[in-house]
Amino acid sequence: MAGARASAPGKVILFGEHAVVYGEPAVAVALSLRTEVTVREAGDQHRVNGQPLAPYHHAYIKDAIENLWKGGPPLDVRTDSRVPSASGLGSSAALSVATTAALLQLQGQLGEERCAREAYAAEVSAQRGRGSPTDTSTVTHGHAVLVDKEKGPGFLWDIQRGERRWYLHHIDIPPLTLVIGNSLQRGRTMDEVAKVGRFVKKTGFAREVIRDLGKISRQAVELIQDREKLALGVAMDEAHDLLTILGVSTPKLDDLCNAARQHAYGAKLTGSGGGGSMIALTDEPEACAAAIAKRGGHPLVVQLGGPGVSASTL
Ligand code: MEV
Repeated sequence: MAGARASAPGKVILFGEHAVVYGEPAVAVALSLRTEVTVREAGDQHRVNGQPLAPYHHAYIKDAIENLWKGGPPLDVRTDSRVPSASGLGSSAALSVATTAALLQLQGQLGEERCAREAYAAEVSAQRGRGSPTDTSTVTHGHAVLVDKEKGPGFLWDIQRGERRWYLHHIDIPPLTLVIGNSLQRGRTMDEVAKVGRFVKKTGFAREVIRDLGKISRQAVELIQDREKLALGVAMDEAHDLLTILGVSTPKLDDLCNAARQHAYGAKLTGSGGGGSMIALTDEPEACAAAIAKRGGHPLVVQLGGPGVSASTL
């Protein structure tokens, strides 16, 4: 019976989360933690890990199937993820992209740009039309990605939703060691993006914060390429403060950032916040990880920028 397997990485956003939804730049990188999805034509109804496909629990898979497999024979879908869910590390993007890639592979139509577009479409319907293509494009392309409102060097593709258009670029980044601290509190991207949306709609002050986050991302691109760790650390601390003003940090994330900073150039939350994870840039990963663990976080030392999506036919 026809089948395909695909694998996609998680991601961390180094700079620009939330601001990117409003057209400001963001820099995101792939992680070595990955999600694998296998699809096989089988049975008399769609199943996910042996259970009938449930629209709410399997929203990302359901939307990918509706987008790409409408009217097709029933599928047996198996998932295996090393990306912790609701942790700000791209678990839903990895699931959307891996499912999309497996379905495209099954139809002999897999290409990076197509996969990024279809996975974003699936994510948009699962998240009720909120958010940018940052996560899905980073997870598809891998390595490091700059999202901007204009086309520049390393251009990959552009993706539009309503009035907004995002230009995705490949960027080279040097090897950098980050420590991720998972707060083990679950954050929901959809809710955090909606919360910031209400704030931005209501006040010019929030729109100014968004623009300041954009300025930091723009400066950070050069700092990353020049490995200016001291200045990058300062930029991370500033970005965290601005994200806190937007209301997406939590006392636990603040606490983990403060603990990590004793052994790091800087630290900030990553992803949508409201729980989830923080990142610290450091030359002392063990000490930094121990400080995070001591405050009840789950630390993970990572090298940034692994490969993007891959797929094969079974
Ligand atoms: C979530 O990983 C990143 C956000 O900027 C939302 C988005 O860009 O879709 C918070």
